[in-house]
Amino acid sequence: MSISEYPYFRGRRLRATENTRRMVAENHLSVSDFIAPLFVMEGKNGKVEIPSMPDYFRFTLDLLLKETEEIRELGIPSVLLFAKVPEEKKDNKGTEALNPAGLMQQAVRAIKKEFPELVVMTDVALDPYSSYGHDGIVKEGQIINDESAELLAKMSVSHAEAGADFIAPSDMMDGRILMIREALEDEGFHNTGIMSYSAKYASGYYGPFRDALDSAPGFGDKKTYQMDPSNVKEAIKEAVTDEQEGADIVMVKPGLPYLDVVRAVKEAVSVPVSVYNVSGEYAMIKAASANGWLDEEQAMMEALIAFKRAGADLIATYFAKNAARLL
Ligand code: PBG
Repeated sequence: MSISEYPYFRGRRLRATENTRRMVAENHLSVSDFIAPLFVMEGKNGKVEIPSMPDYFRFTLDLLLKETEEIRELGIPSVLLFAKVPEEKKDNKGTEALNPAGLMQQAVRAIKKEFPELVVMTDVALDPYSSYGHDGIVKEGQIINDESAELLAKMSVSHAEAGADFIAPSDMMDGRILMIREALEDEGFHNTGIMSYSAKYASGYYGPFRDALDSAPGFGDKKTYQMDPSNVKEAIKEAVTDEQEGADIVMVKPGLPYLDVVRAVKEAVSVPVSVYNVSGEYAMIKAASANGWLDEEQAMMEALIAFKRAGADLIATYFAKNAARLL
């Protein structure tokens, strides 16, 4: 019998007390891991709960600043902004996306003015601005790549002009990281970073988010640009390509059903890896705990530490505030 076997080895010795467990914990969550997503809408003094995302709200800009202050006070270093665009401002060429006085641009300016040290990231994709609800320009029923990527590069410059620290393209068009990086360099935004949604899957877990922004695709689905859930080598290819094209951070999305992808991407790239704990993952935990079927805090913390274990450096999560309070 070897000393690494029972009865000499007893795994329970290290699990015996809270302190021994703390001493040997292999992974740790920290408030600095979190990116808090924020939904902004037009108007004043307004706050609307997203029906499929209990306790999560869309705010008008004045109230968004209060929410941002809470986020900052909890020590969360970063926010990721999404704008809800009124139906009448949507078209097939991203007009409102490029508007220097658009809601996203206003929100970035306002947040950077009040909280200059907060890292402000902006979602870049056409879907909230598109009359078709697609992430790119639509021609003859197709989502066309290169023109879309050019437009996304312009949109990125517009966000950088407003003061965004990081551009977060979530559209999955080919070549857009290179086009965005070049456009930012050309305009002198050398220090504006890119967090690329590199491995973004065509997922059923985005439903509640599309409720939040009223951005569901008007026809078809997103399978010609978002990835097939079957694939992992392709995720590595996408992430490595984005790193080579100039992404400062690469992202895997969704999170919980794709922990193997997080690990694979982490091992393949040298830049930090973020993971998006998406709206449907939030909704599942909220719904089950509202029914008394799960303990919300425990399920939440377990999901978040799973991302760290899988290799994520950063976690975009609707649980950011709740988890920060517990930490
Ligand atoms: C837009 C975008 C989506 C999400 C982030 N950016 C939705 C989509 O691609 O349909 C999903 C976020 C979430 O579900 O929490 N391109």
